[in-house]
Amino acid sequence: MILKKKNKFSIKAKNSSWSFGNKVPIKFNEHIKKSVPFYDESHKLIANLSDFFVQENSTIYDIGSSTGTFLNNIYKRHNNKKLKLIGIEKVPEMIKEAKKRSAHKSIKYLKKDIEKIDLKKSDMIVSCFTIQFIKQKTRQQIINKIYKSLNWGGGFIMFEKIRGSDARFQDIFTLIYNDFKLMNGFSEKEILNKSRSLKGVREPFSDFGNRSMLKRAGFKDITTVFQWACFKGYLSIK
Ligand SMILES: C[S@@+](CC[C@H](N)C(=O)[O-])C[C@H]1O[C@@H](n2cnc3c(N)ncnc32)[C@H](O)[C@@H]1O
Repeated sequence: MILKKKNKFSIKAKNSSWSFGNKVPIKFNEHIKKSVPFYDESHKLIANLSDFFVQENSTIYDIGSSTGTFLNNIYKRHNNKKLKLIGIEKVPEMIKEAKKRSAHKSIKYLKKDIEKIDLKKSDMIVSCFTIQFIKQKTRQQIINKIYKSLNWGGGFIMFEKIRGSDARFQDIFTLIYNDFKLMNGFSEKEILNKSRSLKGVREPFSDFGNRSMLKRAGFKDITTVFQWACFKGYLSIK
């Protein structure tokens, strides 16, 4: 179905200027559910996986925590344990929204750019659809930082949009994903505008690119935990 009127989860942005600030955080939860296939299922899977890494007194980081969906889930799932739950998010309006929706006041949000902070020792680090927004020239350093922060046996869960391994697969991914967004109520104009706004702002790697980056950081044990065409989840254990 192609909608003539702008729908309520649509977000406006100019060419090559996508931003998570201003009014985006208010519509964000609804927008991302319509934009990312199996978004809720992916978060449920990550919560299930957390059972293997979260222990009493664990520190857990969420990189690009947006409105706090992951940290709220973890708080509820492990509320019998004393945990340090820390969201790292550079957009102040997102932090404001995360605090409004927070499951507990013990969840901390750092208004920081991941590029500019040191991470303490941790048992689990999650990054859902954020690494693709980190500048390519510094992306490897962020993954190195994540590896360094993890305790031995700790887990890094990374969900990303991915590029195809060659031009044909990339075309298939793009067209399948466009169909997904049309089915979810976005208009053709909205889909095109979002793609144009993301130019140079979101630059996903291919599966090979992501795995190479994880390996260069030091991860040897890496497995796929989820894939829907161009959306993929990795679990890497230190
Ligand atoms: C697609 S959203 C993440 C969605 C969220 N993890 C979830 O699962 O609902 C990407 C988030 O990463 C944040 N972000 C992007 N680059 C960042 C950086 N360098 N440091 C901290 N946060 C960053 C953005 O502001 C945005 O809130």
